[in-house]
Amino acid sequence: MRPTWFLTDASFDWLYPERIQQMSRRHWTPLGIAKKAAGFLAAEEGKNILDIGSGVGKFTLIGAHYYPLSAFYGVEQRSELHHYALAAKEYTKTENAAFINLNFTQVDLAAYDHFYFYNAFFENLDTKDRIDHQIEYSDSLYQYYSRYLYKELDKKPAGTRLVTFHSLEDEVPPGYQLVDASKDFLLKMWMKR
Ligand SMILES: C[S@@+](CC[C@H](N)C(=O)[O-])C[C@H]1O[C@@H](n2cnc3c(N)ncnc32)[C@H](O)[C@@H]1O
Repeated sequence: MRPTWFLTDASFDWLYPERIQQMSRRHWTPLGIAKKAAGFLAAEEGKNILDIGSGVGKFTLIGAHYYPLSAFYGVEQRSELHHYALAAKEYTKTENAAFINLNFTQVDLAAYDHFYFYNAFFENLDTKDRIDHQIEYSDSLYQYYSRYLYKELDKKPAGTRLVTFHSLEDEVPPGYQLVDASKDFLLKMWMKR
């Protein structure tokens, strides 16, 4: 029987405990968006794609499932969410996905070709709907992370692909050209010139 986890948001979210399922609408990428974003990032086979702030692995696992000829990675600072991502990877037997439990500033971004970014740093500005109260939040952390990612993305070679979802675009250097977007402009596909 073919697995049904990757068919709807509800069936995918069943991979996780109820508390994590309840966060899905607010914090994890919807399945249709993940498929569209992954399709853009995996346009060429054999590339390494990194989700910066991968949560419980929803984008990473959906991308890996639909694009088996690319390698999808997720870096996540919260160990609890990383643990759920690993469990979902095992359960779905997704071979071409891997998860790293670190702050993204501790990862060598030069090792990855293309990037997905669902406004991971916004939690530092938003006082409502926080995932938990285990970490420090501040405006200056938002500025620091956005600036750090901006500089790293700026160093990448021409042809680097970036997808942003709900982003304020503080991390997008001007060298990235907008090549496609959803009708509501929340999902944007960029390519470095
Ligand atoms: C909006 S959620 C998106 C999750 C996932 N990308 C998805 O689309 O399903 C953002 C995630 O980024 C993580 N995050 C925020 N700042 C981070 C940082 N500096 N390093 C690593 N992860 C971070 C948060 O813990 C949260 O899980």
